[in-house]
Amino acid sequence: MTLLAGIDVGTSSVKGLLVDSDGGTVVARAEAAHALSTPRPGWAEQDPEDWWDGTQAVLEVLGRAGEIAGIGLTGQMHGLVALGAGRRVLRPAMLWNDGRSGAECAQIERSIGLDALIAQTGNRALAGFTAPKLLWLRNHEPDVYARIEHVLLPKDYVRLRLCGELATDVADASGTLLFDVARRRWSDAVVEALEIDPGWLPRALESPSVSGATAAGVPVAAGAGDQAAGALGVGVDRPGRVGAVSVVLGTSGVVFAATEAFAADAQARVHAFCHAVPGAWHSMGVMLAAAGSLRWLRDAVAPGERDFGALVAEAERWQPGAEGLTFLPYLAGERTPHADPDARGAFTGLSLRHDRGALVRAVLEGVAFGLRDGLDLVAGMSSAPTRPALGRVSGGGARSELWLRILASVLELPLQRTAVDEGASFGAALLGGVAAGVFADVHEAVAACVRPGAIVEPVAEWIEPYREVRERFVALYPALRAARS
Ligand code: XUL
Repeated sequence: MTLLAGIDVGTSSVKGLLVDSDGGTVVARAEAAHALSTPRPGWAEQDPEDWWDGTQAVLEVLGRAGEIAGIGLTGQMHGLVALGAGRRVLRPAMLWNDGRSGAECAQIERSIGLDALIAQTGNRALAGFTAPKLLWLRNHEPDVYARIEHVLLPKDYVRLRLCGELATDVADASGTLLFDVARRRWSDAVVEALEIDPGWLPRALESPSVSGATAAGVPVAAGAGDQAAGALGVGVDRPGRVGAVSVVLGTSGVVFAATEAFAADAQARVHAFCHAVPGAWHSMGVMLAAAGSLRWLRDAVAPGERDFGALVAEAERWQPGAEGLTFLPYLAGERTPHADPDARGAFTGLSLRHDRGALVRAVLEGVAFGLRDGLDLVAGMSSAPTRPALGRVSGGGARSELWLRILASVLELPLQRTAVDEGASFGAALLGGVAAGVFADVHEAVAACVRPGAIVEPVAEWIEPYREVRERFVALYPALRAARS
C-alpha cells in the first residue's frame, strides 16, 4: 500500500489525511485546532508557529498509521506571513478574512489603474489579498515593514519549517495580487509599481512539482491554495468537460469552475486564478462567511452546543423564506459579488413568531443566496463552457442534508457529494502522489482516487418560492449600504 499525506493549514485547524493511492481510501485522519485572534474589528490574525505545531502533531498521528510516500500542502489562501532576519516571523499573520486594508486597496487601484491591474493580475485589489496587507504594513507598522526579508503564504510557512524551502505554487500565488496569472509567474509590473522588493517573493512552482523533502526524505509537493486543492479533491480537474463546478461550504463559501484558458471578468467580480493543474486556470466566486455564518449563530444563540445537527433540525420546521425573515451573510465584509470589506450582516423581517429555528433557516438560506450570486457570475464568464450541470460539494456544511437541499434548490443545480468530503486535504494528498511519482499527472490521480457519491437534487416545490425570496435578498444589500453612508 502506498500512502500519501495531505495537510490543510486551515483557519480553525490543521487537518491531515493519510490516503491509500490505490482507490483513495482514507486510512487515517488527524486534526489540531488553533486560535484565531481578532484584536480589532475587521482584523483576523494567527500565529504561524501554531500552524507548525499543529502540522507536527498531525504528521505524527498520520505517520503512526503507516509510512508516508509523499506529502501535499494546502491551506487558507492570501494570508501574509512576514519574515525577517533568520527567517523569523515578524508579527502575527494577517489572514484572508482580515478586512483592514480597504484604504490600501483603493490606493493600489488608483496608482495602477483598475483596468491595468486586472490586465496584469486578472484580479482587483480586495482587502484580504496579500499585496494590500503589505501596503498596510508599510503605512501602519513601518518598523516591521523595514525588517521584512521574505513574504510567504500560510501553507508555505509550514513548508519552510518542514523542508527548509522558500517556495509557493501558482494557484496560491494567484491570490497575492502580485502574480501575473495569465503567464503563471510573479508580475514584474505590479511588484515594481507597488515598490515591493522582488527578492522577498518565493519561487512559484506548478502545484504537482516537488518543492523539497522532509528530513526523512519524503517529497513535498508545491501544493495549492485550499480552493484549487479542494476542487481536485472533488474531481473538478478537467476544464469544461464534466460541466461540474466545485461548491464549498467551509468557513468561506466558494463556487469554482476550471477553465481551459486564462480569462478575467472585465470588472473582476470573480477571481481569475491558476488551477493546480498545469495549463489550466479557474474562475471563482468567494463569500467570506458561509459555514462561518452558521458557526457565528451557534456561538451567539447556542453557546456550548458542539454539534450543528440539533440546531439545523430546528430549521426543518420552517418553510422556504422563513415567513419573511432574511439573513445577509456579510459578517466579515464580502468579496463576491460586492467587493466591500465594510459590508455587514443583517437579519431583516423579524416577527414575534420567529424562533431560533427560523434564525437558522434564514442563515442557511442567506448563505445559499450568496453562493447563487457567485454561481451566476462564474457561469456568465465567457470562458465557462455552459451553465454547469452539477456541483461537487465539500466543506463541513455539506454534511447537512437540509442545507444541501436548500442550496441545490437555490442554485437550481444538483449537488453531489464525494466519498471524502475534506476536499482540500484530499486534493493535497493527490498532489503529493504526483510529486512522489505514484501518479503520472493530476488527472491520473483524480481518476484513481475521487469516488463520486450521492446526488442531492433541487426540491421541485422550493424552486419558485426561492426565486421570489431571492429578489428580497438581492434588494437588501444596496438598501443597507445606502443606510450606512
Ligand atoms: C479563497 C479564500 C478562502 C480562504 C479560506 O480565495 O479566501 O477560501 O482560502 O480558506
